[in-house]
Amino acid sequence: MSKKKTVLSCIQPTSEMHFGNYFGAVQNWVRLQKDYTGIYGVVDYHAMTMPYDPKELHHTTMNMVVDLLACGIDPEKSILFIQSLCPEHTELCWILSCFCSYGELQRMTQFKDKSESEKVQEKGNIVSTGLFTYPVLQAADILIYKAEFVPVGKDQEQHLELTRNIANRFNNKHGEYFVEPQALFTDIPKLLSLADPTKKMSKSLGDQHCVRLFESEGSIRKKVKSAVTDVGPKTDVMSPGVENLFELLKACGNIDAYDSLLQDYYAGALKYSDLKENVANGLVALSKQFTDKKAELTKNEKQIEEQVYEMSAQARKLAQKTIVEVRDMVGLPKIKH
Ligand code: TRP
Repeated sequence: MSKKKTVLSCIQPTSEMHFGNYFGAVQNWVRLQKDYTGIYGVVDYHAMTMPYDPKELHHTTMNMVVDLLACGIDPEKSILFIQSLCPEHTELCWILSCFCSYGELQRMTQFKDKSESEKVQEKGNIVSTGLFTYPVLQAADILIYKAEFVPVGKDQEQHLELTRNIANRFNNKHGEYFVEPQALFTDIPKLLSLADPTKKMSKSLGDQHCVRLFESEGSIRKKVKSAVTDVGPKTDVMSPGVENLFELLKACGNIDAYDSLLQDYYAGALKYSDLKENVANGLVALSKQFTDKKAELTKNEKQIEEQVYEMSAQARKLAQKTIVEVRDMVGLPKIKH
């Protein structure tokens, strides 16, 4: 039997998981477990690059771990780790930062967006060096495990390209060592905000813009009901808000309803209230499934904590092997234990 290839991806523990995260990333991670060895991380070091509350970080990190397990990340098939429990990532980040130019980081569009964001610009906050070197830490997350594939959204394409450049520069100097990872863009729906369908569904826009996985049924239905559909006069092209609702319905797996409502749309007979009701039903059903699983998991919180510590130790072992080799290659002394 051929050895399975490795996929790696990570998520920031910045908020409770929402359907944008789920359909845009996590659902795909769960599916990929069938054919790949999965390494999935909750990146709490990355969460420190934007203003945050230290009292909450530990909780949101553990909560994200539980959410991922509730969504179907399977410890039998994948390693699910907490980034800061593998501190070797930061050491590799330092070493790799010496293989990454200042100009390259300056060109990162995510840095530009985040450094100009309201939150960072608020009085008392700074544009930190951590935010600037964020993509190097991301490169370390990927390269330290020699991952072949990285399932990410299009917004991360630039960071992955940078990761390959860094790996390549290192390999040119020290001989073929790091694997140049490939992005894995699969058929991922791009979900938009319900309240403002010109923007991506994201928690940072505010709670009314996204539907959380573990939200109450009443609240889910209310948000979907008030989703923006058409603004301005009707045209021949489907408006982004309506298209988004169709995308959501498809993502929920209700293909029959999707086909028949789409037919109604083209026949000019679609009632938006029907479309919304179907979307809400789909989201509520999924939410119930995840909520039940989460309730079962959190019955034994101690055990989950032990399990994630164990998986993080497993990841750390792999990371340590890389660090020992890299230190030697770049001329740093062996650490004696
Ligand atoms: N930057 C990614 C995001 O915001 C999160 C991330 C950190 C990541 N390290 C990674 C994604 C490594 C893939 C691989 O979505």
